Amino acid sequence: MSPTLEKSSSGKSNMSEDVFAAFLCDETTLKTVAKVAKENGWSPDRVHEGGVNNAVKTLAGSASPQYLIVDISESLDPHKDMGSLAEVCKPGTIVIAIGAVNDVKLYRDLLTAGVQDYIVKPLVPEVLRDAIKIAINASEEEVETETVTSHHKAIGIIGVRGGVGASTIATNTAWLMSNKFEHKTALLDLDLQFGTGALAFDLEPGRGLTDALANPGRVDSLFIERATVKYEEHLSILSAEAPLSENTSLDPQAIHHLLSELRRNFENIIIDLPRGMATSNPFVLKELNELILVTDLSLVAARDTIRLISFVKKQTPKLKISIVANKAETGEFNEVNPQDFARSIEEDLTWTIPLDRKTALQATKLGQCISQSSPRSKVAAELNSLASFYCDVTEVVEQKKGFFDMLKKGGKS
Ligand SMILES: Nc1ncnc2c1ncn2[C@@H]1O[C@H](COP(=O)(O)OP(=O)(O)OP(=O)(O)O)[C@@H](O)[C@H]1O
Ligand SMILES: [Mg+2]
Repeated sequence: MSPTLEKSSSGKSNMSEDVFAAFLCDETTLKTVAKVAKENGWSPDRVHEGGVNNAVKTLAGSASPQYLIVDISESLDPHKDMGSLAEVCKPGTIVIAIGAVNDVKLYRDLLTAGVQDYIVKPLVPEVLRDAIKIAINASEEEVETETVTSHHKAIGIIGVRGGVGASTIATNTAWLMSNKFEHKTALLDLDLQFGTGALAFDLEPGRGLTDALANPGRVDSLFIERATVKYEEHLSILSAEAPLSENTSLDPQAIHHLLSELRRNFENIIIDLPRGMATSNPFVLKELNELILVTDLSLVAARDTIRLISFVKKQTPKLKISIVANKAETGEFNEVNPQDFARSIEEDLTWTIPLDRKTALQATKLGQCISQSSPRSKVAAELNSLASFYCDVTEVVEQKKGFFDMLKKGGKS
């Protein structure tokens, strides 16, 4: 998608016939849209009566705008009508839909079909302002992403079962990338209620992530600078401790926008992604460049690794998945030996990290990650290999071997 119209450096589009149009069904919505459009420097003359059907008719005979606000509240079949609208719009058009039905399925279907946002009536000016701001940012991101941030990576880390060590791997990876390899790194902890991203470094989570998800329109580089908790020069943390009574479902647009901003500001974004969050919000997977599945060597974990790999491949066939076996015991003490585990999941175990309770406990007691508190441990050595791989540090990549390669070589220093 590449916006074809001229934009000012402020992000606002220049007044032009083709920048904006709205097709709306009722007086109140017409007035609200006209007012907010004017604030953005868009002509209120481009606000028309009549919903999506009128939009289809009008745009079939004229150039489609860059930003299109369309009311679907009188549509009998919104999916079909939005399909017809897509046919008469140029590919770069960014569409905000407005409707009367508060239906999550409709909302998700519209987003999947490429609609930028869906707003339920009565239309609140503040909500529309936010949606427009995100739409403008989104069109700028399309242009910038390829140039400025093409090498900036979002790496998701999912534990296939509870307690396998996904957060431990996320915090250590983020710290190594930022401290040892000096890559500007953000640790985004999407375990919004039970996350340990901040706690692992003995920090308070702050309100940054909560605010970013609640008010995506406010998220820009300055916001990121203020809202992230800085641990060290190159490591910033976005984490929350949401009340347990709170609904923590994610908004696809808020996540997309937050990650786009993080990409703009950081070379690596390590996302601690609880498996339940990933399966109920699969759009998050589409935001990732790489995925690490963390497992232990138990029978149930083998089953769940297989199920998660299959789920992820269905959602995002091209996403590169690496498997980390954590808490590996020696010899016969694993429920499933690493070779059989790899065979059953039909994937290599790219990294195998030994179980080392003493080292893990030491890190917790010091409020540090293992790579800080016990840099010479075997756990730290494997984590170092993992982090260096994702930082493209080639000389250390040499060390990246599976468990059996290590055994054959008699272990690593
Ligand atoms: N290799 C290891 N050896 C020993 N203990 C470990 C190892 N890796 C992690 N741990 C410990 O296991 C516990 C669980 O780790 P962690 O919180 O990272 O798991 P998780 O998969 O994120 O759990 P949750 O499902 O709650 O999110 C922690 O006490 C951690 O210190
Ligand atoms: Mg965790």
